[in-house]
This record gives sequence, structure tokens and C-alpha cells, in this order.
Amino acid sequence: MAHLSKVKHSSADWRKVKSDAIAVGIYDDLKLSRQLQGVNRELGRGLSNALAAKLINGKVGEVKTVVGKKGAIAFVFGLGKRGELNAEKLRRAGGGVSKVCIANKVDSVAFIMPVDGKENYFSQAAAEGLVLGSYQFNEFKTTDEDPFEMKGATVVGGHKTSVSKGAHIAHGVCLARNVENRPGNVATPTHIADNAKEIGKAGGMKVTVFDREKFTKMGMGALAGVASGTEVPPKFIIMEYMGGPKKQKPKVLVGKGLTFDSGGISIKPAAKMDEMKYDMCGSGVVLGVMKAVAELKPKMNIIGIIPSTENMSGDKAYRPGDVLTAYNGKTIEVLNTDAEGRLILADALSYATKHYDPEYILDFATLTGAVVVALGHVATGIMGTDEALVKTIKTSSKTTGEKVWEFPLWDEYIDQVKSRIADVKNVGAPMQAGTIAGGAFLKSFVGEDIPWCHFDIAGTAWGDKDLPYQNKGTATGEVIRLVVDLLGI
Ligand code: BES
Ligand code: MN
Ligand code: ZN
Repeated sequence: MAHLSKVKHSSADWRKVKSDAIAVGIYDDLKLSRQLQGVNRELGRGLSNALAAKLINGKVGEVKTVVGKKGAIAFVFGLGKRGELNAEKLRRAGGGVSKVCIANKVDSVAFIMPVDGKENYFSQAAAEGLVLGSYQFNEFKTTDEDPFEMKGATVVGGHKTSVSKGAHIAHGVCLARNVENRPGNVATPTHIADNAKEIGKAGGMKVTVFDREKFTKMGMGALAGVASGTEVPPKFIIMEYMGGPKKQKPKVLVGKGLTFDSGGISIKPAAKMDEMKYDMCGSGVVLGVMKAVAELKPKMNIIGIIPSTENMSGDKAYRPGDVLTAYNGKTIEVLNTDAEGRLILADALSYATKHYDPEYILDFATLTGAVVVALGHVATGIMGTDEALVKTIKTSSKTTGEKVWEFPLWDEYIDQVKSRIADVKNVGAPMQAGTIAGGAFLKSFVGEDIPWCHFDIAGTAWGDKDLPYQNKGTATGEVIRLVVDLLGI
């Protein structure tokens, strides 16, 4: 496993913790975050020389290596301004420390919490950072001479159960990153279903998988339409975790599992088409959250639904102009076969509406290029039908540091996805409000009285952000932490 599989906790004196290095925080006033007994004896000149030479400046994200007496190694991580510590700074510190461990081939580290006790979420964030920063995707490297994986980390001080919670959540994120980083010829719908089954087995969930024949017979005409151009078997996957009272309404999570999006007959340009292997990152969010659920076993009911297929062209593929009938009976005029994500989600949202009485439905999808135009790679676009739900999502977003920005779903936009010959069409007004058109389309497949929120993660699911706990140009697993927080686990 190319990430830390466990983060230990210790409330002992730091000198008693067995590890190959210690990591200690420093503020930008260049004073250590804690007066560590004996630190001068161990690191003595190493630390004071580094400070005198201004090698260390205490900036957030900075991690410097200091070698002391008898080769004692310390990683000194920056915490910024004293008195302004927050969870995100600790997450970055944890991530940075793991990265430096890997770069220096250091097996294990004792991460000394800069503040003790009190703020449990600080401990959780530090553990999240340590695991996420240790993540490497090297499954397809066969010739690397010397791959190095970290063996262990111990958080010293802080709150024990929060440390393990942070590690469990990060395991969910790492699982999602693994599936998401795999290319379309490996991470097929069957592969996604296999992951769902494995998570389900560990977490006591019921996992049901419908194949093409079954879901077509059931009336999922939209998924069947998109899947018609590929011979790679499509799947409709349902994960049911019933950890709460039977009568308690479930929270339903739906994720777009498009394992490769060529655009279909409305084919995409060649540039960056490889990135469309990431078009299943919505399903990655569902798998990642369910993995964390399997490990944390909360007392609540949570359903995960993943429609999964490729979107290919060819003589069997669906065409622009085709009319498809979704699971809720509504008809859809296909004006662009590249707006396929909303089609497969239409069946999934209809299924959730019909078979559960959800407390709320959330869907996650790399749905539009337009959201990248609007928000760049900085924030996830959200839109929903329930003010209270959207408000709690914004609160969770602030907590976990995964930015969201709300778009409106006004009636004018709903009108833009009405079709002349069918109930709806799968594109909005040309060159206008593309992200909202996606949301407006999805809305007609969600039960009227069910609180629902759509997350367009096309800008945040992979790519541009270079953080100590995230690698540029690869899958991020973003919003998994947010959703776990929102669920109230
Ligand atoms: N998977 C894409 C969205 C996408 C594009 C995500 C680029 C990330 C980067 C989606 O299926 C798509 O092709 N959407 C179209 C919709 C349009 C045809 C209405 C788009 O955004 O161009
Ligand atoms: Mn597409
Ligand atoms: Zn797509």
C-alpha cells in the first residue's frame, strides 16, 4: 500500500516514542511551538545553527531538516503566526513531514502536536495530512530502482480517537485516489464494482450490481444509451450501509462513474483527452466516503449509488438527436453525446428517489468544463434545492478546507433545458451558464420534496493544486473529507 496504513498516538514524553525522526513545529517568530524537554541536548547546535543561518523561517508548508547529536534527525515544520494556528496548517504540516520523510528515506516519524489536547480537530487534521502526504501512486512503475514507502507515524500529544479518525478518513481518500489514478483500461466499471464489493464486505454493507441487461430491462434508458457505444461491460452499483435504526431515513450519495469519456459521436478534441480517465472521480468520492464509513462504522444509514460506463463512439453508439427514456419515465433529447454524465446520473437520481426515502441526496460529478472556467481549480461548484442543506455543506467546507461555491438554480435556467420534442434536453443555452445547465437538468430527476445538492468537481478532482498533502497532476480525492464531516460521522 503506497501510503501510511496506520497513524499511532502517544501521550508519552517525546523521547520515549520509538521513531527514526521527530517533527516539531516552529512559528514565524522562530520559537518552537513547544518547549520540548531535552531538545537542546539532542539537537543542540543543529537547530541553533539552522536558525542562526536563517534556514528556517516558520512559514506554513515549509519543512526543514536538522541533524543533531549522534545523528538525531528533526524535521522542523512551519506554523506561521503564533496564535493563528488552524486545522489546515496542521494538515499541511503533516503532509509536508511525510513528504520529507519519503524524500530522505526515513521510515518513521514522531509528529509532535504543537498544542496539546483541547482541539480534537487539530489532531484529526494532522493525521489526515500525515497519511495523505505519504500517498504515492506507483503501481505502473516497474523499473524504479528504489521506491520508498513510509512505515509508520506517531502523533505525540493531542487527541487519540481524533488521530485514528483522521487516518481512517484519509484511507478513504487514498482508496479514491488509487481508483481514480488508474487508467480507463484498468479502472473499468467492473473494477469500480469490485472495489465497492470489497468495501462493502469490510463494512457490513449490502452491495448490488446490475449489469447491462438487467438495468436496461429495469428501464434505465439513459445509462443504457450512453453505454451503447462500448463493449466494456457497464454497471449500476448500489452500496447499502444500514448502521442506524431501520426507520431512519438514509443519506444517499450518487457518483458519476464514467471510466473514460471520449465524448462519443460528439467527439472531444485529442488534447488532454487522456485526462478523461478521471471522469469517474464522482464515483471515487462515493467509494472514498464508503471506505471511511466501513472503517468508522457510524450509527446511521448511508446509501452509495454509482452508474458506471465508458462513453465511446462507433456504429452501436447513441447519436445526437436520439431520445432516451430515463428510469423515472422522463424523456431526454440528446443534443450532444458528450453531455453524458448528466444522463447516467438521471437514472441514478431517479433510482434513489424511487427506492429510498432519503433524508437528502448528494451527487458528485466531473460534469462540466464550464465549472473550470468559472472557478478554476480552486473550488467545487455546488447547487441545490434546499437552503438548509446547502448551508451545512458550506459549513463543512469551511471546516475541512475544501472550497465550494454556490450557483443559482433559478427557473430561467430550468427553462433552458426544456426540449421541443421531449421533456428535457441534455444541453442548455449555447455558450451560456454551462455548469448551471447541468444542475438544472439533474433537478428533474430528483423527487420534488427531497433535499438535494449537486457537486460539480470537474475543477477540483484532479490537477492543479500543489499542496503538501496532495500531488499536482493527479487525483485529489477532494470533497471526501467534506462529505464525511457533513454526514456527521
Ligand atoms: N466529463 C466532461 C466534463 C469535463 C470536461 C470535466 C473537461 C473536466 C474537464 C463532461 O462529460 C462533458 O464533456 N461536458 C460537456 C458538456 C457540454 C457538451 C454541454 C462540456 O463541459 O463541454
Ligand atoms: Mn462528456
Ligand atoms: Zn464526462
